[in-house]
Amino acid sequence: MREALKGQLSEDELKQFRAFDIVGDIAVVKLPEALLPKKNLIGQALMKMQRNIRTVLNQTSPVKGEFRTRDLEVIAGEQKTETTYHEARCIFKVDLAKTYFSPRLATERLREAKLVKPGEIVTNLFAGVGSYSIVIAKHSRATTIYSIDINPSAFDYMETNIRINRVGDRVVPILGDAREVVQKRLARKADRVLMPLPELTHDFFDVALAALKPSGGVIHFYDFGEEPDVFGPSLDFVKTAALKLKSKAELLEARKLRSYATRCYHVVLDLLIKR
Ligand SMILES: C[S@@+](CC[C@H](N)C(=O)[O-])C[C@H]1O[C@@H](n2cnc3c(N)ncnc32)[C@H](O)[C@@H]1O
Repeated sequence: MREALKGQLSEDELKQFRAFDIVGDIAVVKLPEALLPKKNLIGQALMKMQRNIRTVLNQTSPVKGEFRTRDLEVIAGEQKTETTYHEARCIFKVDLAKTYFSPRLATERLREAKLVKPGEIVTNLFAGVGSYSIVIAKHSRATTIYSIDINPSAFDYMETNIRINRVGDRVVPILGDAREVVQKRLARKADRVLMPLPELTHDFFDVALAALKPSGGVIHFYDFGEEPDVFGPSLDFVKTAALKLKSKAELLEARKLRSYATRCYHVVLDLLIKR
C-alpha cells in the first residue's frame, strides 16, 4: 500500500491507514476521519495492488443493532456489497451490508469443527450466514447442526450457503429468536452449543443450558475480556450462572481470538457442562 500511495498520501496519512479485510472480491477498510478526503484515491490504490478486488468499501459505522451489521460505502470499483468467499473448503455467499461476516474468525471456525465428535448434535444459537455451522458440517461427522438466526437476510444467505455447500442433510436453518426457538423446539437436544455473539452470551447462557441434553455437554461461550484478568470475569459468570441452574461449568479451554481495543480481547471459553 505504501508503494501504491507514495506521493499521494503524506507519511503521516500513511501511518493512519490500518489493516483491511478482504472478503471474496471485496476489500473493506475503516478510514479515520482525516483520510476521508482521500478515500477514492485509497480505494483505487487498493484495487491496483490487489488485482482480484472489484470493490472497495469503507466502513462508516461500528457493527451495530440486533443483526450486528455495519454501514458501508463504496469508495472504488463496482457498486455492490455482495460477494462469494472461500474458507476451509466451504463457499459463502454474503452481503456485507445486510449480514454479519468476518473472515478473521476462520481459524476459530475450523478449531471448533475439529472438536466435534462423530454423531454429535450441535445447536448454533447465532448462526449468521451459516459460517460456523457449514465449516462444522464439512469438517466433522456431526449428525445435525441446528442453526438459528433472527436476521431474515442472514437466514436467506444461510439457506443458499447450505445448498451450495451440499450440507442440507445435516445443517438445519431456523429463522427466529434463539430463546423462542430453543423453548419451542430445541430444548434438551444438543451435545454442543455455540454462542458466537459476545454481546448476548450473558443474557442467553440459560438458553444454551436449556438447549443441551439433560446429561450435559459442551458450550462455546464467546465474550470480551480485559487485561490483566482476560478470562476471570467470564469464568466467574458462567460458573455462578450454571450453579443457579443446577449445573456445573468446567473450563476445558480459554482462548483469545483477537484484540478489539487496547488490552481488550474477543475471547472464547470452551465449557464442559455437567448436571
Ligand atoms: C456476530 S454475528 C455472528 C454470525 C456468525 N456466527 C458468524 O460468525 O459469521 C451474530 C448473529 O446473531 C444474530 N442474532 C442476534 N440476536 C439474535 C437472537 N436473539 N436470536 C438469534 N439470532 C440472533 C444476528 O442476526 C447475527 O447474524
